[in-house]
Amino acid sequence: MLRTHTCGELRMTHTGLDVTLTGWVQHTRDMGGMTFIDLRDRYGITQLVFNMDNLPELCRESRKLGREYVIQVNGKVRERINKNPNLPTGDIEIEVMAFKVLGVSEIPPFTIENNTDGGDEIRLKFRYLDLRRTVLKENLILRHRMAMAIRDYLNREGFLEIETPFLIKSTPEGARDFVVPSRMNKHQFYALPQSPQIFKQLLMMAGYDKYFQLVKCFRDEDLRADRQPEFTQIDCEMSFVDKDDVLHVFEGMANYLFKEILNNVPANSFPRISYDEAMSRYGTDKPDIRFGMEIKELTPLVKGKGFRGFDEAEFAGAICAVGAAGWSRKQLDAITEFVRRPQVGAKGLIYVKYTEEGTTKSSVNKFFDDDSQKLWCEHAGANPGDLLLILAGSRKQTLTALSVLRLEMAERLGLREKKVFAPVWITDFPLFEWNEDENRFQAMHHPFTAPLDEDLHLLEKDPGKVRANAYDLVINGVEIGGGSIRIHTREVQQKMFRVLGFSDEEVQSQFGFFLEAFQYGTPPHGGIAFGFDRWVALFAGTESIREVIAFPKNNAGRDLMLDSPSYITESQLKELNIRLRE
Ligand code: AMO
Repeated sequence: MLRTHTCGELRMTHTGLDVTLTGWVQHTRDMGGMTFIDLRDRYGITQLVFNMDNLPELCRESRKLGREYVIQVNGKVRERINKNPNLPTGDIEIEVMAFKVLGVSEIPPFTIENNTDGGDEIRLKFRYLDLRRTVLKENLILRHRMAMAIRDYLNREGFLEIETPFLIKSTPEGARDFVVPSRMNKHQFYALPQSPQIFKQLLMMAGYDKYFQLVKCFRDEDLRADRQPEFTQIDCEMSFVDKDDVLHVFEGMANYLFKEILNNVPANSFPRISYDEAMSRYGTDKPDIRFGMEIKELTPLVKGKGFRGFDEAEFAGAICAVGAAGWSRKQLDAITEFVRRPQVGAKGLIYVKYTEEGTTKSSVNKFFDDDSQKLWCEHAGANPGDLLLILAGSRKQTLTALSVLRLEMAERLGLREKKVFAPVWITDFPLFEWNEDENRFQAMHHPFTAPLDEDLHLLEKDPGKVRANAYDLVINGVEIGGGSIRIHTREVQQKMFRVLGFSDEEVQSQFGFFLEAFQYGTPPHGGIAFGFDRWVALFAGTESIREVIAFPKNNAGRDLMLDSPSYITESQLKELNIRLRE
């Protein structure tokens, strides 16, 4: 190699050694008699010294090196006078004897530092420069370590990693498909998989009873911090299992990751909360359970006293902010403004301060006496010194708004600690949800999810009441994964399609091959898929999965570096038999 050591490797024990290092010029300091350069590579930073007294020509040459030049240096390791305790190599420096420029650099469009001056767009356009920053480098190393640990665990549990195709037919995960025109099959298109769902079930039918794959999935949907049009799943499936078996294996995987990567195991077995319970206690199916502050319904206690905000509401609910009775007018105004934002959607906020003296002060004092307000406080588990925040309105909207308020209050009270991890399984989701626009039921997860045995008889009679044998893994309020026990008989699968409003012809053309496969001996099976990018982001302590993907797209789904998507030539279109519409 062109080097004897890396820039992260040399310590006091190496003093006196002649070494050759290669790397990028991070930073140059010209001190008159000496020039210092921080040389950077993937492994770290090492200080180089060029001495004007000993080698004046070399020192003068070194001053021409700009940021991000790639150089090779020969020199001797020596102890540093001004040690840098923040750097692993901070005890030593290299007294340079000779150097060579291996690659020159233009002045980069932003500083290659953790606290860079570059905005999002410019950093995406020059992603290869952005990736030189230590934060991103560490995220990609973390991602690699997690992928290795996952493969290691699943391999030891007897899972086989099997690849499935990308050029396929539509998979019904609920988003839009990305499609690819076929040149050889005129006017026909492949769809890119939204997930390998059907393939992993076919692998179960084929007898590969433990499958996994770290796999790209493609979904054309509106993008957010935790959504990319192409993202990676840890996709898994098992045969001859029930829900408990699946949860057990993947709790094991999660704990293995916590242990190997963070050296922090939250719990041997994770709590399980049904969907209904999660909705009433937290107002969401993705609860952050690092802290309490659960929602308490107050509807029967607040009605009938002449306050229209409550009297006209279907639902009133409260959360209790522990120790916040002393909040100022300004703090209360700010949080009221927060709940009124369109994203939260509440009309207003009612507060009750349960003072240290045991009396109450509220924004609705005119309508309610101290005793009734104390009753609410007690009902909501508030103690003197706490602050009760109440929202009222339609049940669904109010619960959702309370769930957002709960997170915001926890943020403001410092309860969402980054280093604390609180996994929870959410189970027994509704099998269907009602689609208002299309006036029909749609699968809450996907159409291959099995109903709970005890609800099977309702499948065609009362679909809205059927619960699914499905589960999500939520950690710190992030949906990390979701899966289910699958339907494994043709009859139930056909009923499912019927409830979803598919005609026999549609079922035949889209899923005929799949229904046929059911007839050749299908084992009971179930599985799960985790959002790998989200999991890495969670461990990296970042909100955006872009920070853990080497070459992500922006929020408009564009790759700013490649400038893609882009137009294709007329001859390409012709070859594909495609004419563009205005
Ligand atoms: P689901 O659609 O819930 O299930 O996806 C599984 C997990 O993938 C992650 N995820 C995403 N991550 C980043 N960007 C996206 N656009 C995106 N969409 C989803 C989430 C989610 O929990 N086939 C089923 C799994 C199964 O039933 O086994 C499926 O794909 O973390």
